[in-house]
Amino acid sequence: MVVFYFSGTGNTRYIAKRFSRRMNAECYSIEEHADFDFLIRKEKTVAVCYPVYGSMVPRIMREFTEKYKTALMKKKLIILCTQMMFSGDGARAFARLLPGCDRNVIYAEHINMPNNICNFFLFPITERERIRKKKNADQKVERICREVKSAKIRRRGWSRFSTLLGKSQNTGFPELEQKHRSSFKADETCIGCGLCVKRCPMGNLVLNEDGRVEQKDNCTLCYRCVNICPRRAATVMIHAKPKKQYKGPCKKS
Ligand SMILES: Cc1cc2nc3c(=O)[nH]c(=O)nc-3n(C[C@H](O)[C@H](O)[C@H](O)COP(=O)(O)O)c2cc1C
Repeated sequence: MVVFYFSGTGNTRYIAKRFSRRMNAECYSIEEHADFDFLIRKEKTVAVCYPVYGSMVPRIMREFTEKYKTALMKKKLIILCTQMMFSGDGARAFARLLPGCDRNVIYAEHINMPNNICNFFLFPITERERIRKKKNADQKVERICREVKSAKIRRRGWSRFSTLLGKSQNTGFPELEQKHRSSFKADETCIGCGLCVKRCPMGNLVLNEDGRVEQKDNCTLCYRCVNICPRRAATVMIHAKPKKQYKGPCKKS
């Protein structure tokens, strides 16, 4: 088995690494420079891990999937999604990218992790949530590994109720995603350090000659820039200054 993941702010990376360690599998971020076609073709089973955005697969992961579709369609698939609360059919959303491959999915599961949208008042970033969700997620990964090893089939997100719940989440999300491809903003406290430019997974950001950050209409809404900016100057989608940033499942915010 080989494991591929995308993680904006560390949750999915944490799960993918933990899962692959337990399963003795190689693990790659899709941001790495690797021969993914070769890596997919040489294994029987491919596990994909991604965060759910509006019950959808993030655009960066969709583009990766499209690129390696032919190879992926011949594999047994394990799908692990991280989410803040619920996504209904967030895992099935990946299977839909590979038409006719539903039966190739041998395991699909949702794992609740801390929220990373750090500037939305309804979901504040708290230490309590980080500790609680990480502990529950650890237990869930143990269970997933046990079940995968014993060849148990589980397809979370495949029921009619999950589909309905997913629809309630993603209605309007494709339009929102499109609208916010260039919604990055840096407020007047930006010092032009270029950290967001360096870390953007989409190469969406560039530092101009005046030390201002410009964008190329390619934001995947991962919230990495918002959470790493040393001045809390960066925002996407929601333009409220974060009170607390999300530093990943293992670090205090
Ligand atoms: C744009 C965006 C949309 C999101 N939509 C959902 C959602 O529909 N349901 C949910 O439970 N969590 C949602 N989340 C929360 C993330 O899925 C969750 O925090 C995830 O674990 C982040 O993973 P990462 O740290 O690997 O990027 C969303 C986050 C972002 C940035």
